[in-house]
Amino acid sequence: MDGVSAQTEARRRFLRMLVASPLFSGSLFGGSLRNLLPILEVLQQTAEVISSPDQALDVMDFEPAARKALPPAHFGYLATGVDEDGTVRANHEGYSRIQIRPRRLVDVEEIDMSVRLFGTTWSSPIVISPVSSQKAFHPEGDVAVARAARAKDHLQILPTGATSSIEDVMATRGAPVWQQLYPTNVWEVGRAIVKRAERAGSPAIVLTVDLQEGSNRETLFRAQTADQRECSACHSSAYTGYARTRPKAGSGGFAQYAARKPMFDGLDLSKVVATHPANMDWDFVKRLRDTVTVKLLLKGIVVREDAQLAVEHGVDGLVVSNHGGRAEETLRPTIESLPEVVDSVAGKIPVIVDGGIRRGTDIFKALALGATAVGIGRPEAWGLAAFGQSGVEAVLEILRRELRTIMRQAGTTSINEITRSYVVTRPS
Ligand SMILES: Cc1cc2nc3c(=O)[nH]c(=O)nc-3n(C[C@H](O)[C@H](O)[C@H](O)COP(=O)(O)O)c2cc1C
Repeated sequence: MDGVSAQTEARRRFLRMLVASPLFSGSLFGGSLRNLLPILEVLQQTAEVISSPDQALDVMDFEPAARKALPPAHFGYLATGVDEDGTVRANHEGYSRIQIRPRRLVDVEEIDMSVRLFGTTWSSPIVISPVSSQKAFHPEGDVAVARAARAKDHLQILPTGATSSIEDVMATRGAPVWQQLYPTNVWEVGRAIVKRAERAGSPAIVLTVDLQEGSNRETLFRAQTADQRECSACHSSAYTGYARTRPKAGSGGFAQYAARKPMFDGLDLSKVVATHPANMDWDFVKRLRDTVTVKLLLKGIVVREDAQLAVEHGVDGLVVSNHGGRAEETLRPTIESLPEVVDSVAGKIPVIVDGGIRRGTDIFKALALGATAVGIGRPEAWGLAAFGQSGVEAVLEILRRELRTIMRQAGTTSINEITRSYVVTRPS
């Protein structure tokens, strides 16, 4: 570390210590906000990008570190929503409309954050949502995520677009991971992906149903333009997975894209033109249900009508998700979709929610509104991009710590105790 950064680092440590000390909120500053402002300003000015995971105070600290580590187009891919990114923002802001009603005088010495999903117990309700192309963020990609998931005991959902094979990821994880499914427009290809995942020992297939071709990822497109590097050195220009142009069947465009995605290895891709078929409907779900021998979940359900249909079609679980605001600009946060989906399935199947979860308190609120578990997407990828495995571990650890803290503060000692009575929605 050079002299200037060592000095900045020392100053940052001092300010952090100051903020954490009782003096900060105690007599010296008399609790007056006006007194705190100059210090907060200094803190803000010196708050540069973290250079190691242990400097992070919260998971948001990893976002600038990821931006610093990544080329513009790759960060654009990670950050992007659609149109004006309004749904990305809404997902997180949705949590600020929900308030917590803590109970007092409860013995909270022992906190149990474990949950059970399909007969397996996890030490926390925090699930790693499927994120494609993780080697765009770090050379070790999904394998580094698997090591972190193993170290911290988290359920990992592997995307179809993973840049490591499910066999390698499972061997590293030392336990089964769930397989997310983009079935493509060719039934045999989707079926082959399912069968390979089942053979590898995956106990659940998660069919993503919320993404249509042509989602308008403007932030990505702008970032691609800003990136001076020659993308075609690594990428097929014919297909990017959500491209504005779809390759013609037989053109080889999809195969070029799939060449870097091991889940497509050895498959006949000559008729594939899209990861997500535009004609996918409930008959498709029925056919898939008859094919999948393990658990089948749908990811991307956001309304009660579809939740009801999912139950009727024998689906085993749901992920309330809007693809992290990357599919369509609904401006509706997933936390506001969650209650109607939970009410609709009436406890028959587990419901996971993802989108905008950045704090332990967000997790607490989602659980209170009926989620069985929660998924995180971008924060895990920020950690990976910035610091590899240790970054992912730190993100998971911070969220666990924050959840434990709010459970203690609210007087809830187990996940089951976190019910709707612990939250209230702010009147608008
Ligand atoms: C870079 C990136 C890639 C993603 N890839 C997939 C994918 O392949 N399949 C899928 O179902 N969801 C995918 N998602 C959506 C996530 O699984 C998850 O729903 C979303 O990121 C949750 O929102 P959050 O990022 O605000 O936590 C992706 C999200 C990001 C940010």
